[in-house]
Amino acid sequence: MKIGIDKIGFYTPNYVLDLTALAHARGDEPEKYTLGIGQSQQAVVPNDEDVVTMGVNAAQSILTDEDRAAIDMVIFATESGIDNSKSAAVYAQKLLNLSEFSRTIELKQACYAGTFGLMQARDYVTLHPERRVLVIASDIARYGLATPGEVTQGAGAIAMVVASAPKILAINSDSVYMSRDVADFWRPVDREEALVDGHLSTDVYKEMFLTLWQRYQKATQHVLDDFAGFAFHLPYTKMGKKALDQIMAEATPVQQTRLATNLTASQVYSRQVGNLYTGSVYLSLLSLLSHATDLVAGEDLAVFSYGSGAEAELYSVTLQDNFADYVPKTMTDALLAKRQLVSVTEYEKIFQSQLYDSHVDAHTQAGADAKTAQFLGWQGGERQ
Ligand code: CAA
Repeated sequence: MKIGIDKIGFYTPNYVLDLTALAHARGDEPEKYTLGIGQSQQAVVPNDEDVVTMGVNAAQSILTDEDRAAIDMVIFATESGIDNSKSAAVYAQKLLNLSEFSRTIELKQACYAGTFGLMQARDYVTLHPERRVLVIASDIARYGLATPGEVTQGAGAIAMVVASAPKILAINSDSVYMSRDVADFWRPVDREEALVDGHLSTDVYKEMFLTLWQRYQKATQHVLDDFAGFAFHLPYTKMGKKALDQIMAEATPVQQTRLATNLTASQVYSRQVGNLYTGSVYLSLLSLLSHATDLVAGEDLAVFSYGSGAEAELYSVTLQDNFADYVPKTMTDALLAKRQLVSVTEYEKIFQSQLYDSHVDAHTQAGADAKTAQFLGWQGGERQ
């Protein structure tokens, strides 16, 4: 029985920062951002959006009545959630008009948690093929103004419906995975911005990919020529190239060209949005499905998921018949095309207003009352 991604949807806010403008403002050469790191634009999140609204918008774009009737589990992966106790999935369940008779849970392990959610969904549907699971991966990546990580910020959400007889791709049972306690990236509970040892994180990512690729080959006997393309977690687009370059020599020359071309296809959307943390690897997959011109049903793609701290997983998926008919390329392109550019000054103002320190009244009665009123507003369903 095939289980996998039946639908996939994407959402990013309507505001975007041009990274050449940011480079000028920071006194950097624009080519460092656009070529050296491989990012052109970055999503800017306005004050009335968060991981819940982004995740709900991503899901809203793909759910049918048939899905709503069959979904009895909502898995919400995020590392930038809105509450330290209540799951973002509970809000999503309500805002999406899903059945109350469903399980809801939030998962956290940096950028990796979306993959854990997907695998849990796959296993659950294997046991209950008539049911479906909604997996949402939604995040706001914040490092701080004028920090080295600033150019790799971003935001957005991916939503996926996991089902039997999936329309887009089947998830194969060939995962290899690993976890290791590494201090490459973390976010203490009193901070909105992540702390990161950027160069260490890049090295750990590369090393875990290489280790898992070798383990995967041993376990499955697959070689690089078996894959039509790779979808990598893309904190910045150059990261995927750094990882793949380590093993590229194992492919035939024709295959090297194909993998490089399809790596470029997988980077198109991330280059315009930035890092989505949990959703990033699935935005890369969506981009690959949307922009590769040579994919054929029955072929396999490799997926590499990495989350700092650190945990990684490598697995393959198989393209289903007529998969291209169900890839929302037109919708995704339209979403990106309609965004409004914000200036560096506007971006900085929005960014500053979202830091904990800016909520100076958060611990006063007035601040608490405002937060309660906002919360009750959500309860009343006004949040959509
Ligand atoms: N023209 C072209 N290229 C240029 C250039 C120019 N004028 N100037 C510099 N470059 C190149 C550099 O040669 C370098 O290329 P290589 O990496 O191929 O050597 C690249 O631009 C970046 O330059 P630096 O290494 O000097 O950049 P930096 O020190 O300012 O930081 C960074 C880069 C470490 C990625 C930083 O942006 C960062 O910390 N980002 C956040 C952490 C991150 O994304 N880590 C990724 C792995 S962790 C992960 O995947 C989980 C997650 O989502 C966070």
